[in-house]
Amino acid sequence: MKFFLDTANLSELKQGAAWGVVDGVTTNPTLIAREGVPMEQQIRDICNIVDGPVSAEVVSTDVEGIVREGTALAAIHPNIVVKAPMTRNGIAAASIMSRKGIRVNVTLCFTVGQALLAAKAGAWCVSPFVGRLDDLGDSGMDLIRDICLVYKNYGFPTQVLAASLRSPLHVVEAAKAGAHIATMPFKVLDALFNHPLTDKGLDQFLKDYAKAFPGESSARQSGSQ
Ligand code: G3P
Repeated sequence: MKFFLDTANLSELKQGAAWGVVDGVTTNPTLIAREGVPMEQQIRDICNIVDGPVSAEVVSTDVEGIVREGTALAAIHPNIVVKAPMTRNGIAAASIMSRKGIRVNVTLCFTVGQALLAAKAGAWCVSPFVGRLDDLGDSGMDLIRDICLVYKNYGFPTQVLAASLRSPLHVVEAAKAGAHIATMPFKVLDALFNHPLTDKGLDQFLKDYAKAFPGESSARQSGSQ
């Protein structure tokens, strides 16, 4: 499973990249607006931090506008994936851009039928929003499972990018459901590290070693040996 960070914040991306576990990035107009830097500049900076697919979303809603904007976004960097909305115009534009060799992420997907349309349009990936369905009392994870099954049945190459993930459990459940990619906010990636027994165990190991070899362990930590 690939891990993407769902953020446009450069410090979060730098930290994720330093851990060596971030395969790509997803952004949306809300996330870009939060950083206060116009789309093109922010996307360029993101591409300089993470070496992997970076989703940049169009804000046009007509076919011609989506294609024009998407083509310009794709020209910023070879890693750009153009995010287009799951609308009639978005799907028409996704078909055009996919045929031109531009990778498209069809976003705001909430049904298997919509995911089928994204695959038919030749999308590189589809983004079903797990958390937003859960918010309505529906099951976001059932949607991920069903899309993976249907895509497998027909050998569609479109990847399932589980989006709107809100917790480490969401990430694990998306992996079990077969999603190719999980995109998550930084705080969810950070939370994946945590377990009290890891902290407790490490604390004990270090204490035991330091007790047995008092001088050596502090010298090792300072890098002098
Ligand atoms: O980037 C789209 C998606 O991941 C948004 O998540 O938490 O706003 O539903 P959320």
